[in-house]
Amino acid sequence: MSPSTESCSRDADKAKPFLKWAGGKSQLLGEIRKRLPAGIEDGTITRYVEPFIGGGAVFFDVSQSHSFDNCLLLDANEDLILVYRTIQSSVDKLVGILSNIAYEYHELSPEKQSEYFYKTRLAFNEAKPGIDYSTFGPAWLDRAAQILFLNRTCFNGLFRVNSRGEFNVPIGSYKDPAICHPENLRRVARALQNAEIRVGDFEACAPSVDSRTFVYFDPPYRPLNKTAKFTSYASTAFDEASQLRLAQFFRQLDKCGAKLMLSNSDPKNEDPDDDFFENAYADFTIERVKATRMINSDAAARGQINEVIVTNY
Ligand SMILES: C[S@@+](CC[C@H](N)C(=O)[O-])C[C@H]1O[C@@H](n2cnc3c(N)ncnc32)[C@H](O)[C@@H]1O
Repeated sequence: MSPSTESCSRDADKAKPFLKWAGGKSQLLGEIRKRLPAGIEDGTITRYVEPFIGGGAVFFDVSQSHSFDNCLLLDANEDLILVYRTIQSSVDKLVGILSNIAYEYHELSPEKQSEYFYKTRLAFNEAKPGIDYSTFGPAWLDRAAQILFLNRTCFNGLFRVNSRGEFNVPIGSYKDPAICHPENLRRVARALQNAEIRVGDFEACAPSVDSRTFVYFDPPYRPLNKTAKFTSYASTAFDEASQLRLAQFFRQLDKCGAKLMLSNSDPKNEDPDDDFFENAYADFTIERVKATRMINSDAAARGQINEVIVTNY
């Protein structure tokens, strides 16, 4: 298999992430492209797997520059996966609903827009217990539209839920937020055509990984040492034990000959003596690249930091 003809198409014509997501990798794409395994170019790699898909910046970039027979996208967040699968199966209906929302919203005064935002947020949270996440149904269309609307209009444009899965971000102060991007959503739907998209823990991808697979891991950032003890009390958080379980899983997949890449925050940004990656990924290539921390509630923590990129090739 050779790189698809799409690799020649302009970046502007490619599907882009449709949600702003914590830890989005758009700004690391250059560093990631440089380190893709040769098998993606020469056609020996035929499957793409991303078990922490989030906003999908790397998937959209790589899958539209190269061709794969199939892709598997996983994430533990069921609402995120609901949006992906709704776009994949029913993009036109979704665009219809979202365009109506955008039209209604833009007609309102700022006070009424605020009311509309909080009404939508409440409806979204109240509907959660009744959603059947296993089977696509009409309720998915409304929910996907609500998520896209809330993401575009909320503070920092960041879709974030609390431990109960409730969305609690306040309204942002955008004059004229672009709520619906029909063209991008249609491109996303096309980019997802040969993808299997599932809710799940990252280990669920194991049966789909073989020597012709490239796996890109972008887990939630490893907490800083100072806070690690605290977050490990939260059963659902991606704590230190989860980071170690992931390193163990990386070693397991390495044995089957798959090509693997993992990115994470560099703990040495905060503590030069923290050798977590040197220890947990001792047999692999560890590189450090510059990144700009875009989304951080602590303004002082925004700026240039290192990220680690681990590869097994
Ligand atoms: C750093 S984000 C991925 C960002 C993504 N690469 C992007 O560019 O937008 C990490 C993702 O891991 C998901 N996640 C957390 N725990 C998980 C688990 N145990 N298995 C799979 N996904 C998980 C979160 O829902 C989140 O979407």
